[in-house]
Amino acid sequence: MGLRAVYVRHPEDIVHIMRTHADRYCKGVEQLAAMHEFLGEGLVTLSDGARHAEARAVLDPGFRAEFVKGMLPTMAAVAQELVDTMLFKAGAGPAKDVEVEELCRRATLDVLGRTAFRFDFQALAVARGASQGVELAAEAAQHKSVSGSAPRYADAVTLWDAVLGPAMLIAFDMKIPNFIIPGYAGYQDGLRTFNQLVKTVISKRKAEGLEDGSKDLLTVMLQAQQQGNSLMTDKHIRDELMVFLLAGSDTTAELLAFACYELSRRPQLQQQVRAEVAGVLAGRPLTALTVEDTRGLKLLTACVNEVGG
Ligand code: HEM
Repeated sequence: MGLRAVYVRHPEDIVHIMRTHADRYCKGVEQLAAMHEFLGEGLVTLSDGARHAEARAVLDPGFRAEFVKGMLPTMAAVAQELVDTMLFKAGAGPAKDVEVEELCRRATLDVLGRTAFRFDFQALAVARGASQGVELAAEAAQHKSVSGSAPRYADAVTLWDAVLGPAMLIAFDMKIPNFIIPGYAGYQDGLRTFNQLVKTVISKRKAEGLEDGSKDLLTVMLQAQQQGNSLMTDKHIRDELMVFLLAGSDTTAELLAFACYELSRRPQLQQQVRAEVAGVLAGRPLTALTVEDTRGLKLLTACVNEVGG
């Protein structure tokens, strides 16, 4: 297909490319262009250095350590909901298979939505049959959905399933017409609904008002827009949201799912990790976990670093 790819995985090579010699490497401009319909021009896909720096400056408060630490109660609550959903799926009778990776994607999307956009995608609730997903805003719901019927609700994970595979093939910019890519029609429908979903997220946050001192990623962008920042148009905010939805939930979901898989292969280590968590919680519920507690989770941290590294 005219492409030669070199995959890099040694930590020293990654530091060389991403940090010490980053000025010698650029992102694939053609691939970024191929992804425009899907991700637009958000942080991961912006190739213009000055605009990239401006977007980073606006979003910086949302990435500060203090703000991220404040996300812990939400993360702990979603972790508990993930456990509950796994048990619900496993059922009371004979053991059933549970699709762990999908549930991890639902959990990380719920964390991202609640912390970065102050929005509840209800992704885990959908898996339990307790929700139909997000009710699309009236003006956004006029178009057709993935299934072809007039949508009122959208499940973000189902949309990802329709969009992500074809989007990755499109990103390879294979010089073939898009319509022969498997799943392309579903991708187009899914992307349309995704755009409506993102519109719903933005209009809800606007309707709530921005004057409450919140530093979540969506609020800081909308505040910058209100203050006249010319980069932060509605279109740019849509693009950043799409980037965060991908960069901030798929990555963490795969790490979580892979960690579960590796621990399932090492029952003894799994028991040690469980004992460590139980010791730190000392009878308190998981939802009571504090930042101070996480410092005592050395074995769990090492496992996550091993899988993520
Ligand atoms: C296990 C978790 C994660 C992994 C492995 C990961 C990996 C990466 C990598 C390799 C890049 C560089 C991509 C490139 O420049 O082409 C990147 C960039 C980025 N990631 Fe993550 N990420 C993770 C979690 C997150 C989370 C939770 C968020 C946000 C909520 C996030 C937001 C971003 C953003 C915005 C960029 C672009 C930064 C910029 O260009 O200035 N990531 N990530």
